[in-house]
Amino acid sequence: MKYSAVILAAGKGVRMCSELPKVVHRVAGMPMIVHVINAVKKAGIDDIITVVGYGREKVEEIVSSAGVQLVTQEEQLGTGHALMQAEKKIDPDSTVVVLAGDTPLVQPSTVKNLLEAHCKEQAAATVLSTELSNPYGYGRIVRGSDNSFSRVVEEKDASETEKQIREINTGMYCFAASEVFDALSTLNPDNAQKEYYLTDVLTVLKNKGKKVSVLLGDAEEDVYGVNDRVQLSHAEAVMRKRKNMELMKKGVTIIDPATTFIDSSVEVGRDTVILPFTLIEGGTVIGERCEIGPGVRISDSIIGSGVTIESSRIKSAIIGDECTVGPYSYLRPETILHRGVKVGDFVEIKKSTIGENSKIPHLSYVGDAVVGKGVNVGAGTITCNYDGKNKHQTILEDGVFIGSNTNLVAPVKLGKNSSTGAGSTITRDIPANSLGVERAKQRNIKDWFLRKK
Ligand code: UD1
Ligand code: CA
Repeated sequence: MKYSAVILAAGKGVRMCSELPKVVHRVAGMPMIVHVINAVKKAGIDDIITVVGYGREKVEEIVSSAGVQLVTQEEQLGTGHALMQAEKKIDPDSTVVVLAGDTPLVQPSTVKNLLEAHCKEQAAATVLSTELSNPYGYGRIVRGSDNSFSRVVEEKDASETEKQIREINTGMYCFAASEVFDALSTLNPDNAQKEYYLTDVLTVLKNKGKKVSVLLGDAEEDVYGVNDRVQLSHAEAVMRKRKNMELMKKGVTIIDPATTFIDSSVEVGRDTVILPFTLIEGGTVIGERCEIGPGVRISDSIIGSGVTIESSRIKSAIIGDECTVGPYSYLRPETILHRGVKVGDFVEIKKSTIGENSKIPHLSYVGDAVVGKGVNVGAGTITCNYDGKNKHQTILEDGVFIGSNTNLVAPVKLGKNSSTGAGSTITRDIPANSLGVERAKQRNIKDWFLRKK
């Protein structure tokens, strides 16, 4: 049997009140539709067709690397009309799973169970339902007197009695391709929203004498649909909790999961401890035995093992094993710290490489610099890397010792084991083993205090 999946993602998502198409809004750092695609792939379906329409380019940009096919629904005439657009891409002998792009919590097991039930029942169509204590907003499953599927009624079309039904349509279906497209062509938009409802296809099939089964699932969270920002925040909370659980089960200590926010794409090694009020985002990878937090935000960075980071911001940086950072430092893109580097408090580093065991302990700005091994950068050191027009490089070779409050006016190079006198403004290179001092000679004015009186 051949399996394909169609993800419906052409709608604007009016209830989001957004310029962006709904399915690109992020949950735990990843666009909703990417979560759905990943779940489908993990369920073993590789042939995925996404129906795009509103904000097509935005959705395309996001899913282009995921290896899915795209079809366009020019006008958003409803979920049934959306599925119709995928017909030309689907083998008529295949089994098709249909999901919406706005159900980011869907799990691979949800998709697998649906497929299995469909195949076992040899149905023409299977719809996944679940019972909710608050079914508001969802289509309700109406069953006949024999308890078999009768139809789905949307919230907007439902009578008062139908609104009492707690069994809802999750918007996840499985169809025999040979049946569904014929049936879709007979739909009409005869409802409150004047749309071609995909849900009506179930009734059409049933009326044709085909087998329509309902799989009543119990994992309410997995089928949660996001239509507005309140629901988005709920999905976010569930996803965060899942991620924290996953990491804790793999050996990461999270002191306070309620104040720890880790994107689903992040990896953390065992015996790392994450302290409260910490955000770890994007493609960040953290090694083992680290201590991260409190108050740390790390995005798209690679952190080695045995690293300590406290109250700092790390953005697209690479930090080697056994480094310490913070409190209160800012590592900006293209910063590379080799093994054992110490970056202390109130230090900003940008586009610089810092060699093994070097120290920048306090109150410094280091930009566009190449710093060797065992270098000590004194408090208050500034690389003057920008002349108002261009950026210039500072090179500090191995063993350099920078006196406190030095200005290094780039381009400038300090040779191996050279030093600067505290307070110097260094504008010329310093040869190896030499001291560069640049400051006015001190004068002492005798009895100045007494004379002032
Ligand atoms: C839909 C179901 C409802 C179910 C709910 C589950 C219908 C008519 N209703 O309602 O029974 O309980 O999902 O979450 O199917 N889309 C298109 N093109 C369109 C319209 C929608 O691609 O013309 C896409 C949207 O981008 C979205 C998905 O289909 O990803 C579902 O559309 P949405 O408007 O959210 O449907 P619901 O009102 O939630
Ligand atoms: Ca929806």
